[in-house]
Amino acid sequence: MDKKTSALRIALCFCLILPLAGLAAGDAERGAVLADTCLGCHGIPGYRNAYPSFRVPMLGGQTEEYLLLALQGYKSDMREHPTMQAQAQSLSEQDLKDLAAYFGSAGQIEATEPVTSGRAARGAEKIVVCTACHGQTGISPAPNWPNLAGQHKDYLVHSLAAYRDGGRKDAVMMGQAMSLTDADIADIAAYYAAQDGLFTADYVN
Ligand code: HEC
Ligand code: HEC
Repeated sequence: MDKKTSALRIALCFCLILPLAGLAAGDAERGAVLADTCLGCHGIPGYRNAYPSFRVPMLGGQTEEYLLLALQGYKSDMREHPTMQAQAQSLSEQDLKDLAAYFGSAGQIEATEPVTSGRAARGAEKIVVCTACHGQTGISPAPNWPNLAGQHKDYLVHSLAAYRDGGRKDAVMMGQAMSLTDADIADIAAYYAAQDGLFTADYVN
Protein backbone atom coordinates (compact mmCIF):
# COMPACT_ATOMS: atom_id res chain seq x y z
CA MET A 1 0.00 0.00 0.00
CA ASP A 2 1.51 3.39 -0.90
CA LYS A 3 1.58 6.26 1.56
CA LYS A 4 -1.26 8.12 -0.07
CA THR A 5 -3.65 5.15 0.11
CA SER A 6 -2.88 4.42 3.75
CA ALA A 7 -3.33 8.08 4.71
CA LEU A 8 -6.65 8.02 2.93
CA ARG A 9 -7.68 4.87 4.80
CA ILE A 10 -6.80 6.39 8.14
CA ALA A 11 -8.76 9.54 7.30
CA LEU A 12 -11.71 7.40 6.26
CA CYS A 13 -11.60 5.47 9.53
CA PHE A 14 -11.76 8.70 11.52
CA CYS A 15 -14.72 9.89 9.50
CA LEU A 16 -16.58 6.69 10.34
CA ILE A 17 -15.61 6.47 13.99
CA LEU A 18 -15.97 10.07 15.15
CA PRO A 19 -19.67 10.53 14.36
CA LEU A 20 -20.45 7.20 16.07
CA ALA A 21 -18.61 8.25 19.21
CA GLY A 22 -20.55 11.52 19.11
CA LEU A 23 -23.83 9.65 18.92
CA ALA A 24 -23.14 7.37 21.84
CA ALA A 25 -21.93 9.77 24.47
CA GLY A 26 -23.74 12.69 26.01
CA ASP A 27 -22.01 15.60 27.71
CA ALA A 28 -22.50 15.13 31.46
CA GLU A 29 -21.38 18.68 32.27
CA ARG A 30 -24.00 20.17 30.00
CA GLY A 31 -26.49 17.66 31.45
CA ALA A 32 -25.78 18.95 34.95
CA VAL A 33 -26.94 22.42 33.93
CA LEU A 34 -30.12 21.06 32.32
CA ALA A 35 -30.83 18.86 35.35
CA ASP A 36 -31.96 21.66 37.64
CA THR A 37 -35.67 21.13 36.99
CA CYS A 38 -35.33 17.36 37.30
CA LEU A 39 -33.81 17.49 40.75
CA GLY A 40 -36.98 19.02 42.20
CA CYS A 41 -38.39 15.48 41.97
CA HIS A 42 -35.53 13.03 41.33
CA GLY A 43 -33.13 14.68 43.78
CA ILE A 44 -35.41 14.35 46.81
CA PRO A 45 -35.37 10.94 48.53
CA GLY A 46 -38.81 9.34 48.60
CA TYR A 47 -40.53 12.21 46.74
CA ARG A 48 -44.03 11.19 45.66
CA ASN A 49 -45.92 11.51 42.42
CA ALA A 50 -49.25 13.13 43.32
CA TYR A 51 -51.67 11.04 41.27
CA PRO A 52 -51.53 8.12 41.04
CA SER A 53 -49.48 8.20 44.21
CA PHE A 54 -46.13 6.38 44.05
CA ARG A 55 -42.54 7.30 44.77
CA VAL A 56 -40.60 8.98 41.96
CA PRO A 57 -38.10 6.44 40.56
CA MET A 58 -34.51 6.54 41.76
CA LEU A 59 -32.10 7.21 38.92
CA GLY A 60 -28.80 6.72 40.78
CA GLY A 61 -27.20 3.46 39.61
CA GLN A 62 -29.01 3.28 36.24
CA THR A 63 -26.83 3.33 33.13
CA GLU A 64 -26.63 6.20 30.66
CA GLU A 65 -27.96 3.87 27.94
CA TYR A 66 -31.10 2.92 29.83
CA LEU A 67 -31.78 6.47 31.01
CA LEU A 68 -31.66 7.68 27.42
CA LEU A 69 -33.99 4.90 26.31
CA ALA A 70 -36.48 5.83 29.04
CA LEU A 71 -36.36 9.55 28.20
CA GLN A 72 -36.88 8.79 24.50
CA GLY A 73 -39.88 6.68 25.56
CA TYR A 74 -41.54 9.74 27.14
CA LYS A 75 -40.60 11.95 24.19
CA SER A 76 -42.18 9.55 21.68
CA ASP A 77 -45.28 8.85 23.82
CA MET A 78 -44.35 5.16 24.26
CA ARG A 79 -44.47 5.95 27.98
CA GLU A 80 -47.46 7.84 29.33
CA HIS A 81 -46.84 10.30 32.12
CA PRO A 82 -47.94 13.92 31.58
CA THR A 83 -45.07 15.56 33.49
CA MET A 84 -42.30 13.40 32.06
CA GLN A 85 -43.76 13.64 28.54
CA ALA A 86 -43.86 17.44 28.83
CA GLN A 87 -40.28 17.48 30.14
CA ALA A 88 -38.90 15.21 27.43
CA GLN A 89 -40.84 16.84 24.61
CA SER A 90 -39.53 20.29 25.48
CA LEU A 91 -35.95 19.02 25.18
CA SER A 92 -33.86 18.18 22.11
CA GLU A 93 -32.40 14.74 21.44
CA GLN A 94 -28.98 16.13 22.39
CA ASP A 95 -30.40 17.48 25.68
CA LEU A 96 -31.73 13.99 26.49
CA LYS A 97 -28.31 12.47 25.79
CA ASP A 98 -26.59 15.01 28.01
CA LEU A 99 -29.10 14.45 30.82
CA ALA A 100 -28.69 10.68 30.52
CA ALA A 101 -24.91 11.09 30.71
CA TYR A 102 -25.26 13.24 33.83
CA PHE A 103 -27.72 11.04 35.71
CA GLY A 104 -25.86 7.93 34.55
CA SER A 105 -22.63 9.16 36.13
CA ALA A 106 -23.81 8.81 39.74
CA GLY A 107 -22.09 5.44 40.22
CA GLN A 108 -22.55 1.77 39.43
CA ILE A 109 -24.21 -0.78 41.65
CA GLU A 110 -22.92 -4.27 42.30
CA ALA A 111 -24.64 -7.56 42.95
CA THR A 112 -24.93 -8.68 46.56
CA GLU A 113 -26.48 -11.80 48.15
CA PRO A 114 -30.20 -12.02 47.31
CA VAL A 115 -32.60 -11.00 50.08
CA THR A 116 -35.48 -13.50 50.19
CA SER A 117 -37.24 -12.90 53.48
CA GLY A 118 -40.88 -11.87 54.03
CA ARG A 119 -42.97 -11.07 50.97
CA ALA A 120 -39.80 -11.07 48.84
CA ALA A 121 -39.73 -14.88 49.21
CA ARG A 122 -42.88 -15.21 47.12
CA GLY A 123 -41.50 -12.81 44.53
CA ALA A 124 -38.26 -14.79 44.30
CA GLU A 125 -40.23 -17.72 42.89
CA LYS A 126 -41.87 -15.58 40.24
CA ILE A 127 -38.86 -13.88 38.67
CA VAL A 128 -37.38 -16.91 36.93
CA VAL A 129 -38.42 -15.55 33.52
CA CYS A 130 -37.07 -12.07 34.32
CA THR A 131 -33.52 -12.83 35.39
CA ALA A 132 -32.05 -13.19 31.89
CA CYS A 133 -32.53 -9.45 31.43
CA HIS A 134 -32.81 -8.03 34.96
CA GLY A 135 -30.40 -10.33 36.80
CA GLN A 136 -30.98 -12.53 39.84
CA THR A 137 -31.02 -9.54 42.19
CA GLY A 138 -32.22 -6.86 39.77
CA ILE A 139 -28.84 -5.85 38.40
CA SER A 140 -29.04 -6.14 34.66
CA PRO A 141 -26.27 -7.79 32.61
CA ALA A 142 -26.70 -5.30 29.73
CA PRO A 143 -26.63 -1.48 29.88
CA ASN A 144 -29.84 -0.97 27.90
CA TRP A 145 -31.96 -2.97 30.35
CA PRO A 146 -32.96 -1.27 33.60
CA ASN A 147 -31.62 -2.21 37.01
CA LEU A 148 -34.47 -2.95 39.42
CA ALA A 149 -32.51 -3.68 42.60
CA GLY A 150 -33.64 -1.47 45.48
CA GLN A 151 -36.06 0.57 43.35
CA HIS A 152 -39.13 1.88 45.22
CA LYS A 153 -41.68 -0.91 45.56
CA ASP A 154 -44.67 1.24 44.63
CA TYR A 155 -42.88 2.52 41.50
CA LEU A 156 -42.15 -1.06 40.40
CA VAL A 157 -45.83 -1.92 40.90
CA HIS A 158 -46.85 1.15 38.92
CA SER A 159 -44.49 0.47 36.00
CA LEU A 160 -45.33 -3.24 35.71
CA ALA A 161 -49.05 -2.47 35.74
CA ALA A 162 -48.43 0.15 33.03
CA TYR A 163 -46.80 -2.41 30.70
CA ARG A 164 -49.69 -4.78 31.36
CA ASP A 165 -52.50 -2.24 31.03
CA GLY A 166 -51.15 -0.15 28.13
CA GLY A 167 -49.72 2.98 29.79
CA ARG A 168 -46.27 1.91 28.60
CA LYS A 169 -45.62 0.38 25.24
CA ASP A 170 -42.56 -1.81 24.95
CA ALA A 171 -42.69 -4.96 22.84
CA VAL A 172 -40.68 -7.05 25.30
CA MET A 173 -42.19 -5.87 28.56
CA MET A 174 -45.81 -5.90 27.36
CA GLY A 175 -45.39 -9.61 26.66
CA GLN A 176 -43.70 -10.19 30.01
CA ALA A 177 -46.34 -8.35 32.05
CA MET A 178 -49.40 -9.55 30.12
CA SER A 179 -50.19 -12.55 32.30
CA LEU A 180 -49.15 -11.15 35.69
CA THR A 181 -51.91 -10.75 38.30
CA ASP A 182 -51.94 -7.87 40.79
CA ALA A 183 -50.68 -10.29 43.44
CA ASP A 184 -47.80 -11.43 41.17
CA ILE A 185 -46.84 -7.80 40.58
CA ALA A 186 -46.90 -7.03 44.31
CA ASP A 187 -44.72 -10.07 45.11
CA ILE A 188 -42.20 -9.33 42.33
CA ALA A 189 -41.99 -5.66 43.30
CA ALA A 190 -41.43 -6.65 46.94
CA TYR A 191 -38.57 -8.93 45.88
CA TYR A 192 -36.71 -6.42 43.71
CA ALA A 193 -37.31 -3.54 46.12
CA ALA A 194 -35.78 -5.58 48.96
CA GLN A 195 -32.43 -5.95 47.14
CA ASP A 196 -29.47 -3.63 47.56
CA GLY A 197 -28.96 -1.26 44.67
CA LEU A 198 -30.44 1.93 43.23
CA PHE A 199 -30.24 5.19 45.15
CA THR A 200 -31.28 8.84 45.08
CA ALA A 201 -27.97 10.34 44.14
CA ASP A 202 -26.64 13.31 46.01
CA TYR A 203 -26.04 15.19 42.77
CA VAL A 204 -23.74 18.12 43.13
CA ASN A 205 -24.51 20.99 40.81
C1 HEC B 1 -42.67 16.70 38.80
C2 HEC B 1 -41.71 15.64 39.10
C3 HEC B 1 -40.70 15.25 38.02
C4 HEC B 1 -39.84 16.08 37.32
C5 HEC B 1 -39.70 17.57 37.41
C6 HEC B 1 -39.04 15.17 36.49
N1 HEC B 1 -39.42 13.87 36.69
FE1 HEC B 1 -38.61 12.24 35.78
N2 HEC B 1 -40.06 11.07 36.58
C7 HEC B 1 -41.03 11.50 37.44
C8 HEC B 1 -42.01 10.42 37.65
C9 HEC B 1 -43.24 10.48 38.53
C10 HEC B 1 -41.56 9.33 36.84
C11 HEC B 1 -42.26 7.98 36.61
C12 HEC B 1 -43.19 8.21 35.42
C13 HEC B 1 -43.87 6.97 34.85
O1 HEC B 1 -44.95 6.61 35.32
O2 HEC B 1 -43.32 6.36 33.91
C14 HEC B 1 -40.32 9.77 36.21
C15 HEC B 1 -39.54 8.96 35.38
C16 HEC B 1 -38.30 9.33 34.89
C17 HEC B 1 -37.38 8.43 34.23
C18 HEC B 1 -37.57 6.94 34.00
C19 HEC B 1 -36.96 6.18 35.16
C20 HEC B 1 -37.02 4.68 34.99
O3 HEC B 1 -36.62 3.98 35.94
O4 HEC B 1 -37.46 4.21 33.94
C21 HEC B 1 -36.29 9.17 33.88
C22 HEC B 1 -35.04 8.69 33.17
C23 HEC B 1 -36.53 10.54 34.32
N3 HEC B 1 -37.76 10.59 34.94
C24 HEC B 1 -35.65 11.60 34.14
C25 HEC B 1 -36.03 12.93 34.36
C26 HEC B 1 -35.28 14.07 33.87
C27 HEC B 1 -33.97 13.98 33.09
C28 HEC B 1 -35.96 15.20 34.26
C29 HEC B 1 -35.61 16.64 33.96
C30 HEC B 1 -35.53 17.02 32.57
C31 HEC B 1 -37.13 14.76 35.01
N4 HEC B 1 -37.14 13.38 35.04
C32 HEC B 1 -38.05 15.59 35.62
C33 HEC B 1 -41.11 12.74 38.05
C34 HEC B 1 -40.43 13.87 37.61
C1 HEC C 1 -35.81 -9.83 27.16
C2 HEC C 1 -35.46 -8.94 28.23
C3 HEC C 1 -36.44 -8.70 29.36
C4 HEC C 1 -37.14 -9.63 30.12
C5 HEC C 1 -37.13 -11.14 29.99
C6 HEC C 1 -37.86 -8.87 31.13
N1 HEC C 1 -37.60 -7.52 30.98
FE1 HEC C 1 -38.29 -6.01 32.17
N2 HEC C 1 -37.47 -4.64 30.92
C7 HEC C 1 -36.77 -4.92 29.78
C8 HEC C 1 -36.56 -3.68 29.04
C9 HEC C 1 -35.82 -3.54 27.71
C10 HEC C 1 -37.19 -2.65 29.77
C11 HEC C 1 -37.31 -1.16 29.40
C12 HEC C 1 -38.54 -1.00 28.52
C13 HEC C 1 -38.92 0.44 28.26
O1 HEC C 1 -38.25 1.08 27.44
O2 HEC C 1 -39.88 0.92 28.88
C14 HEC C 1 -37.73 -3.29 30.96
C15 HEC C 1 -38.40 -2.60 31.97
C16 HEC C 1 -38.85 -3.17 33.15
C17 HEC C 1 -39.37 -2.44 34.28
C18 HEC C 1 -39.46 -0.92 34.42
C19 HEC C 1 -38.19 -0.40 35.07
C20 HEC C 1 -38.19 1.08 35.30
O3 HEC C 1 -37.21 1.57 35.88
O4 HEC C 1 -39.15 1.76 34.91
C21 HEC C 1 -39.72 -3.37 35.22
C22 HEC C 1 -40.30 -3.09 36.61
C23 HEC C 1 -39.45 -4.68 34.66
N3 HEC C 1 -38.91 -4.52 33.40
C24 HEC C 1 -39.71 -5.89 35.30
C25 HEC C 1 -39.62 -7.13 34.66
C26 HEC C 1 -40.15 -8.35 35.22
C27 HEC C 1 -40.85 -8.46 36.57
C28 HEC C 1 -39.90 -9.34 34.31
C29 HEC C 1 -40.29 -10.81 34.38
C30 HEC C 1 -41.71 -11.07 34.59
C31 HEC C 1 -39.18 -8.74 33.20
N4 HEC C 1 -39.06 -7.38 33.44
C32 HEC C 1 -38.69 -9.42 32.10
C33 HEC C 1 -36.29 -6.17 29.40
C34 HEC C 1 -36.76 -7.37 29.90
